[in-house]
Amino acid sequence: MRTPSIKGRRKRRPCGACPRCAAGRAAVLMQRLNYSRRVPEVRLEPMTEDEYAEFRKRSEQNYATRIAAARALPLPEARRTATDEHQALLSAGLRTPGHYLWTAFEVDQPVGHLWLHVEAKSDGLHAFGYDFEVRPELRRRGYGRAITAAAEQKCREMSVVAIGLTVFGPDKAAQSLYEDLGFETTVLQMRKRL
Ligand SMILES: CC(C)(COP(=O)(O)OP(=O)(O)OC[C@H]1O[C@@H](n2cnc3c(N)ncnc32)[C@H](O)[C@@H]1OP(=O)(O)O)[C@@H](O)C(=O)NCCC(=O)NCCS
Repeated sequence: MRTPSIKGRRKRRPCGACPRCAAGRAAVLMQRLNYSRRVPEVRLEPMTEDEYAEFRKRSEQNYATRIAAARALPLPEARRTATDEHQALLSAGLRTPGHYLWTAFEVDQPVGHLWLHVEAKSDGLHAFGYDFEVRPELRRRGYGRAITAAAEQKCREMSVVAIGLTVFGPDKAAQSLYEDLGFETTVLQMRKRL
């Protein structure tokens, strides 16, 4: 049996530059992946009254579903709690002092929303994210990452020293996003059903 010479083997190595060989195909695939992973450019605009009305309904509904599961509450009770907590926090709607409600746009298309509260603590201003959502049909296209970056920028402009938020257990996408962006877990509540 003939053993191929080292010279011969070198010749058959993939060149990495043409789509006919394995390395070339991988390079083309990486190029496509990088294109589809482009970071969209988003800007945060203060919500209009119409956007706020829609947001408020959706935010209460989503929060009710989450606390029903997390606090083991019947859904009607969770809905009442969600309404009460939203009313207490946003007592003057869009004009509630310290609360920032933004719609995120890519060009003219609304892609998500964000609700932040900023308050002074002993070491400076702290922000807390009460709600953040990317439109369901637009998820996994980088908008979550882009909106978080835009919010971080707004916070830096306000000299905020830290941003906090709550992530509910089943929201794995959010957990993964925040961990990826450098957020650290400060409290972890656990439960075992018996
Ligand atoms: C969480 C949420 C905002 C992410 O928005 P998105 O536009 O889909 O996020 P991106 O496309 O920017 O993804 C950024 C990262 O988030 C993580 N991520 C997003 N969706 C994920 C999923 N379904 N599963 C696991 N990780 C996910 C990944 O780490 C991803 O990075 P990668 O694409 O490099 O893997 C969106 O899923 C959402 O609106 N969820 C419902 C509301 C919610 O949970 N809000 C957060 C409350 S704290």
